[in-house]
Amino acid sequence: MFRYTCLNPIAQTGLDGFSENYEKTEELNDADAILVRSAKMHEMELPNSVCAIARAGAGVNNIPLGKYADQGIVVFNTPGANANGVKELVFAGMLLAARDIIGGANWTKSQAENPDVTAAAEKEKKKFAGTELLGKKLGIIGLGAIGVKVANAATHLGMDVYGYDPYISVDAAWNLSRNIHHINDVEDIYRQCDYITIHVPLLDSTKKMINSDAIAKMKDGVVILNFARDLLVDEEAVLAAIDAGKVHRYVSDFPNPTTVGKTGVIVTPHLGASTAESEENCAVMAVKELRNFLENGNIKNSVNYPNCDLGICESASRLAICHKNVKGMISRFTDVLADTNIHNMSNASKGDFAYTLLDLDSAVSPKELAQVEAIEGVLKVRVVK
Ligand SMILES: NC(=O)c1ccc[n+]([C@@H]2O[C@H](COP(=O)([O-])OP(=O)(O)OC[C@H]3O[C@@H](n4cnc5c(N)ncnc54)[C@H](O)[C@@H]3O)[C@@H](O)[C@H]2O)c1
Repeated sequence: MFRYTCLNPIAQTGLDGFSENYEKTEELNDADAILVRSAKMHEMELPNSVCAIARAGAGVNNIPLGKYADQGIVVFNTPGANANGVKELVFAGMLLAARDIIGGANWTKSQAENPDVTAAAEKEKKKFAGTELLGKKLGIIGLGAIGVKVANAATHLGMDVYGYDPYISVDAAWNLSRNIHHINDVEDIYRQCDYITIHVPLLDSTKKMINSDAIAKMKDGVVILNFARDLLVDEEAVLAAIDAGKVHRYVSDFPNPTTVGKTGVIVTPHLGASTAESEENCAVMAVKELRNFLENGNIKNSVNYPNCDLGICESASRLAICHKNVKGMISRFTDVLADTNIHNMSNASKGDFAYTLLDLDSAVSPKELAQVEAIEGVLKVRVVK
């Protein structure tokens, strides 16, 4: 029986994914695993029983990853689970930029007392007119979970889609429609596209990637969409470009004092993942990750330990070891386990931490277990089977 606790409300559809071998507990001290959304964990001391945390969402700023890795606690997140929610909002952003839908709707609202509103609207509507998306060139920077969905959907609206991602994953490449133009130089996107949308992670290398130099290379009247992170864009430079008539609209999902209320800027209140479906998808994925880890020892989508997968254990026993990424660890494990046959194994590392799965032809004795635990650099050992 495994026990889990939820530090925030987690969608029931996700929790329904736990089998009868799982029990919910309110007591942290009883828990093997934790599900969390935004609860701040930096000051939280966790008992030895906890071996995994799943964040139902992408960002993990609320979790001290290094501290928990040092305790052998594997932290998971749910990348891509909210991608469709973000994708749909990107299209809303493009449509809001193409015509002045917000201005038009505000105008009709202001006419609530006007009995001649129908005729007045016919006179006013040209102020809010715009263009269509059909046939426009859309440039997508970053073809990950969200970028690929935006790219594929845009082709169905008849847009001419250009994609740039020098580090595209094999999975993403497989999922990408063959109608997308593959761009090797991001400047080709700047030069050619009417709409440019960024879907990259915020890293030192991507911070302010859309800056005054990039904007200067863009077409006049370009629309820039930012549903990734505000720090990816030099927003002061964008405002200057709007004033100069270079940028038509800047659409962002990240309200801040620089952009809110400024002419030419449309800001939504970080709504990208705010759909019932996104929350459910995150919860479903988080529970799957926890189950695969607790029941099989496999790691997929951890942010502080490497991916490591031996499938379902077919041999007599499986040992899962969280340890420091230092030399000589494997030979120390095999020394201790010299009396049993290692049927299969996998080892991977991520930064300072590593993970080893060992499938054995016979059960591990308490003495062998204690010896593995005592090896310097070993952080947590679990007998998975
Ligand atoms: N608005 C929201 O509510 C919301 C919700 C979820 C995610 N996000 C943000 O959206 C962004 C994308 O998320 P995702 O789930 O698609 O991430 P992802 O990791 O699946 O994809 C990111 C892609 O960017 C690519 N990339 C990295 N550096 C690049 C560069 N310099 N140039 C071009 N491509 C580069 C990577 O190769 C990867 O394919 C992230 O910044 C994330 O924080 C926002």
